Amino acid sequence: MFIYTNISIMSKPLIAGNWKMHLSEPQSRGLAEQVEAQAAAYADTVETAVFPSSIALSSVNSLVESTATGVQNIYFADEGAFTGEIAAAQVSDVADYAIVGHSERRYVFGETDETVARKTAACIRNHITPIVCVGETLHERQENETVQVLNDQISTGLTMITSEDVAGSVIAYEPVWAIGTGENAKPEDVASAARTIDRAIGEMFGRKTADQVRVLYGGSVSSETAGSYLDLEEISGLLVGGASLKEHEFKAIIERAANGGAETGKS
Ligand code: 13P
Repeated sequence: MFIYTNISIMSKPLIAGNWKMHLSEPQSRGLAEQVEAQAAAYADTVETAVFPSSIALSSVNSLVESTATGVQNIYFADEGAFTGEIAAAQVSDVADYAIVGHSERRYVFGETDETVARKTAACIRNHITPIVCVGETLHERQENETVQVLNDQISTGLTMITSEDVAGSVIAYEPVWAIGTGENAKPEDVASAARTIDRAIGEMFGRKTADQVRVLYGGSVSSETAGSYLDLEEISGLLVGGASLKEHEFKAIIERAANGGAETGKS
């Protein structure tokens, strides 16, 4: 299980690797060992987290100390006849984080803002920090609907939790068109989206709460582009997909975060 160091966790950038539906269980352990070495080396300045497939979550969790672990998706009920689903309650001892409302869940599996709200509440109930994903499609961006989409996803997605819970939660801005496409969002667009998210949370829960929420960026991040997002004061870390499966890439991103990225200013 993840061991917290004495430096305030809020001031460290969070570098999270979403392994999606990749790697066997032994392969996951192998990659986790490599990541752990880097996470331990930079534990004072960076928080590292990995999100293996659920078949490997428990074994990965048992071999890391400086790396947080998380689950890629959960169901919103705590138990019951829901074949194939995993409850937050079932993973609460091996998952520090849960990704909620990833765009692949929304657009491949039909999740709505309402299910995101229920899943976020299930995380809080089970002491797992939710990473709530929001982001617009290409069509929505072209129609100038980005602000509206982000406002809707935030206002419905966080509706079932308290301001105290929101303060400890993480939001990942992942524009759908930038995920797995190699298409990089411009840092100024990411900063603008992060400000929209911050404003929406501020209006709902108050400025003090909004100031504590960490906002990550995700979408085709590589070791080459990581720095341009980590340098943004609006961004507190990265949610990395494809590059997190490549040991050297992910290690380089952690190192970049340690070397001056993301002075979040949030505490
Ligand atoms: P890529 O980095 O592969 O674009 O994926 C981003 C993502 O979806 C992380 O959750």
